[in-house]
Amino acid sequence: MNEYAALILAAGKGTRMKSDLCKVLHLVAGRPMISYVVEAVLSAGLGKISIVVGHQSNEVMKSLHSQGIEFAFQEPQLGTGHAVAMAGSLFNDFSGNILVLCGDIPLVQPRTIEEFIAFHEQQRSLLTVLTTCMENPSGYGRIVRDESQHVLRIVEERDANENEKAIEEINTGVYLVEARLLYSLLERIRPDNVQGEYYLTDIVKEAVKETVPVQAFVLKNSQEAMGINTRADLARASTIVWDRIREDLMNSGVTLLDPTTVYVDAQVRVGRDTVIHPCTTLSGATEIGKECVIESGVNIFDSKLGDCVTILQGSRLDRVLVRDGATIGPMAHLRPDSDIGKNVKIGNFVEVKKTFVGEGTKAAHLTYLGDSIIGKHVNIGCGTITCNYDGKRKHTTVIHDNCFIGSDVQFVAPVEIGAGSLIGAGSTITRDVPPASLAVSRTKQKVYPLRTGQGPESTDEDRKS
Ligand code: UD1
Ligand code: CA
Repeated sequence: MNEYAALILAAGKGTRMKSDLCKVLHLVAGRPMISYVVEAVLSAGLGKISIVVGHQSNEVMKSLHSQGIEFAFQEPQLGTGHAVAMAGSLFNDFSGNILVLCGDIPLVQPRTIEEFIAFHEQQRSLLTVLTTCMENPSGYGRIVRDESQHVLRIVEERDANENEKAIEEINTGVYLVEARLLYSLLERIRPDNVQGEYYLTDIVKEAVKETVPVQAFVLKNSQEAMGINTRADLARASTIVWDRIREDLMNSGVTLLDPTTVYVDAQVRVGRDTVIHPCTTLSGATEIGKECVIESGVNIFDSKLGDCVTILQGSRLDRVLVRDGATIGPMAHLRPDSDIGKNVKIGNFVEVKKTFVGEGTKAAHLTYLGDSIIGKHVNIGCGTITCNYDGKRKHTTVIHDNCFIGSDVQFVAPVEIGAGSLIGAGSTITRDVPPASLAVSRTKQKVYPLRTGQGPESTDEDRKS
């Protein structure tokens, strides 16, 4: 078999997106669209991958931390043909075939690439175009064939006449070309079109002029060829990717009660027998274990959940670790860098930030735990607050194992509570408490008899104290 290398075009701004962010970095189901193309090429087994970058090149390169990708720069961006030409030096010593793909076709599947290569081999072709037929081909380049169905050229929508616009067979923007042929054809293309650009598509007519036969491999599933040019295209592509993910999740043993309302990003992993209720979002690098329950209205970002974790209605988790058997919510807010131990219970209206919570600890109601280290089997009473911020800096609260914290306690950090201590309800704790102690810091309750029409009357003794 011939040698194959891939060249992905990703230098364009994507004017039709009307965005400050370059097109290939826009997210499709939570991942930059370019990453799908790279992954498809890698999965199809191509080892050498080059990408033409230009607009926001640093950001595009950073988004692809895969090893072994080479980059070429195109500045200014004078069209897809010019983009391929700018990568020429990367292929000086390469005598195989180049798979050229646009970076804005995130739905392309590895299998399609494999079949495309197999076809190119079988036909002993030097130039093959991946085409497909679309009911509504508007926006795409059309494949013009002669009476004997030989491919003659590709005409862009903007340069097409009415007859050409009626052609349903379109250019997917994916090509296989023998490397030396590609670069010799590129030397001949001219920007003599409506957009004044160097069109890569013009290599087809140049090849025909040179009597090099051009093959077309017609892709049956035209959905895969969808090029993303606008925000509406972006939304359609995300919907398709989300559908694929939902199918995969259900096939792997995850229950989705109302699949179309569950939004799971591409990298998310979910263990079997986990049940996901409607209207939930699982994003980024989230990993969920086995036999978890994710109730409705829950949003989880970049978090890791162990097995048998329950996230009750309306909770938000962002960059946290929740260990096996923990229960969170309803309406809990777990903020970055928190580590929630095994079998912990974080109840309603509890906010946790940058806090380690030890195994079996409970904070069941209305609590804020920030910048804290909480031991095992601690009971945090309702309304407890760590006062972690002094207006300038954040300070740590440490509560050791087996403490019992009464309701409505404030810990003015930095402060440390020894193991097995008891803090009386309503206390404001400003100093460390040794282990196995009772700390109470509240004024003694006073009770005054009320006389009709008068307020409380204080005694002399009160005034002195
Ligand atoms: C292109 C094809 C069209 C095809 C369609 C498939 C050309 C002239 N047209 O049109 O026939 O039907 O894709 O989706 O090739 N890019 C660069 N440098 C540039 C211009 C573009 O790197 O100077 C990159 C873009 O970042 C993008 C890709 O090439 O990833 C395609 O560019 P785009 O402007 O979207 O081409 P289309 O008009 O969609
Ligand atoms: Ca496009």
